[in-house]
Parts: sequence; structure tokens; C-alpha cells
Amino acid sequence: MAKVLVYGSGGRDHCLADKYGDSQHVEKVYFMSGNPGVLYTPKGKRGLIELVNIANPDDFGEVAAFCRENKVDLVDVGSENPLSSGLVDVLNDHNIASVGPKQEYTKLESDRSFTNFLLKKTGVGKPEYRVFYDIGQARKYVKNIGYQVVVKANGLAAGKGAIVCDNVEDALAAIDSIMVKKIFGKSGDRVVIEERKYGTEISFFAYLDGKHVLPLKMFCQDYKTAFDSDDIESIEKFGGNLNTGGTGCYCPHKLMSDQLVNRIIREIVNPVVNVIYNEYGWNYKGVVYFGLNLDTDNQLEVFEINVRHGDPEFQVLARKLSTDLFEIGMAVWEGKLDQIQQVWNQQFYVDVIAMEGRSKADRGWNPGYPKRYGKGHQILGLDDLDKGIAVYFAGVETTEEKGLVTWGGRVLHLIAGDKTLEKARKKAYQNIQKIIFVDHKKDGANCMRYRTQIGL
Ligand code: GLY
Repeated sequence: MAKVLVYGSGGRDHCLADKYGDSQHVEKVYFMSGNPGVLYTPKGKRGLIELVNIANPDDFGEVAAFCRENKVDLVDVGSENPLSSGLVDVLNDHNIASVGPKQEYTKLESDRSFTNFLLKKTGVGKPEYRVFYDIGQARKYVKNIGYQVVVKANGLAAGKGAIVCDNVEDALAAIDSIMVKKIFGKSGDRVVIEERKYGTEISFFAYLDGKHVLPLKMFCQDYKTAFDSDDIESIEKFGGNLNTGGTGCYCPHKLMSDQLVNRIIREIVNPVVNVIYNEYGWNYKGVVYFGLNLDTDNQLEVFEINVRHGDPEFQVLARKLSTDLFEIGMAVWEGKLDQIQQVWNQQFYVDVIAMEGRSKADRGWNPGYPKRYGKGHQILGLDDLDKGIAVYFAGVETTEEKGLVTWGGRVLHLIAGDKTLEKARKKAYQNIQKIIFVDHKKDGANCMRYRTQIGL
């Protein structure tokens, strides 16, 4: 039996740990540095998933030493930051099997201008864009461009780096936030200004093993904005409908069909993978995430490429995938993806994210995620959830006094599955209403918030 280490601590990483824990080949999943929510789940309680804290998890030599001492058979790196800091390179230097690209290849996500250039030369559909180092030039461009734009930080921004603009004032403010106020830090030294597109977003994923590609023949849709589209009061109050890293997701996508899957593979996945393997000669082993748009003229275009699974997309895909994740992971490492049969169950899945809402602060109020939010609110109601509901934790912590408490803006994912999307939605929303974040400063009121339109 095998041992797996999942490196990460968010909702996607918890879900990865859970899915490896389902494998018939796996006896132990180490979760580094994990999050303590896992201790409140069945696999955490019985020790199948074990939280691991080492002195310095950012020291990748220490991570490799842990893997060797504990005879870890496979490491899966869930998020972009450790990948772009070179964790996989260090693991591979120690001959430790891993899922995730080497540092050099992560520029697919960490350098939008590099990826846009790659897309342009393959002829893959991509909205018109320009890259700017100079703030004056960027300002001048949006004043004269004559159509709506999206302003993006060039570097990593945890899936939040794109600001969708309605008009020139919005675009100028976005440039200011990214390049002057540096809301995404150094990732905003350069901006990509892209034509705004209307249509339907699709999140599509493929595994690569250095030789083969395994496109997942199932896709989903995430919800990036913080508020429901009809929640005009919140949208106006918080200055536009703020983009987050995701507030919910459902699967299969309403546009899901074999025909569209094949079209995405033919028009997008294969040309990009062809450049990766045959032009760049990259030995890429890991996931490629294609953030796509199908516009009103039926044109497929790429908004972004990332080097890892989506969060929250993986949380619904993992529920729907019946293939053993350890078999996929080992095939990625061994270059045997051509031997994997992907099997999907017949259910629909809805992931609703419980967020920190408005809560009492020492002075005044916290407006809640994605603006300033409180933390340390006790989480209740988990034991009341229906059988079959999955919970993956993101921003949580434990305290001696209160047990499990909120510790971030997006706190937990609640995932329900059923035979139809409508039934899955109903189940998800019935259950999320059982979750309480106790606002201790406001007579124990519930300060949890969620979007109500996931899957609509
Ligand atoms: N759901 C968006 C992302 O993972 O970047």
C-alpha cells in the first residue's frame, strides 16, 4: 500500500487529500501543512489523512527529507505558489515522484504575457490584448481603445488578478490598483489589458505526463464574483461586483457535450500541448487548466492558462470522477497516461462556499469577504449535515476555547450531489443553511454568507 503527500492547505488541497484517501492503493495521506478542518472529517478522525507540520514547510529540502524518512510514494502539489517556487524541482532532485510542473514551466501561469504570446503563435483563440510596463502608456491605451477591457496583473494573484471593467473610469482605477497601490504585489509590475468578452466561461483540465495528454472529458463552471448578480445593493455598496478566487461551482457544465469536449481538445488543448512538448521540449508532468470562454458567436477563446487544478473546480470534478486518483498520479509520474481509463459517475454536483459575511468588529463592522472580514468565529452545524454531503475546509483554524473557527474569507466548501442539477442545488442550499459562524460580538448571530445562484 502507498503513502501520498499532498502539499497545500486550501479547499482544493483538502479535496486532493480526500480523493487520494479514496484510492484502493493508498494507506496514508500526509497533508502538509494542511488545515485543521481535516481533523473534523471521517478520514482525518481515523488517521487516514494526517496533518503534518514541519519546522519550515517553505524549505523544500525539509519537505524532501520528510518524504524520504516516511517513505512517501507520491507528492501532489496543489497550488501555484510552491510550484513556481520550485518544490517539484527539489523533490525530483531527490528522486521523489510528484504531480506538478517544474519551476520553469510554471511561467504558463505566472507570466501572462508569455502565455498570450504562446497562444497567439499557435493560432488558438485569444481576446485582443496589450502588455504594459509603463503606467502612463497603460492609462493612455484604455482612454483610446474604444471598447470595454479586463485589466490583469501579469503575475500570480491566487486566481484573483483580473479586474473586469465597465468603462474607462473603471479601467483607470484598475490600473491604479494593480500598478500603483500594488494590490497584487510585484505581480502588478506589468499589466495585461485585454478586450472584455461576453459569453459563458468554461473551466477545462488536462493531465500531462511528458509524453501523453489526458484531457478530462468533463468540464465545469465556477462563479468568480463575490455577490449574486441581482444583489444590486451589495454590488453598489462595495464598488462593483468584486472578483474573488471563486465562490462556488457546479458540474457538469450546462454546455457539457461530447461534441464540445472534442472541439475544446481539437481547437485548444492539442495545439497548446503540441507547443509544450514539441516546440519547447518541456517534460511537463502535472495539470494544465484552460480558462475558456464560449462567446455569443460560438467562438472559443482562452482567458488564462494555469498550472494546477482549479479551486473550487476540482472539488466538484473529484466527486464526479470515479477513476482512482493515485493511478492517475502515478501515470503522470511514469509517463503512462495513455493507459488510464477515465470514468465519470452520473451525478450532478454543486459546491457552495460558505464565506465570512458581515460581522461585528471591536469598533464598527467588518463588511465581510472579499472586503475586510472578521475571524475566530466558531463553526457549528457540521454534525447536522445530511449523509453524503462533502465538506472541504479552506480558511479555518482551531482554538482550545472554541474548537473549529473561521480563519479566512472563504471558509469551507459544501458539496452536494444528486441525479439532477436541480436536486443537487436544493440539497446544497438546504444543508448550507445548517452551518453557523457564531458572531460572538453580536449575541451569537450567524455571520456566514453564501451566493444563492450557484448552478442557476
Ligand atoms: N477558480 C479559479 C482558479 O482556480 O483560478
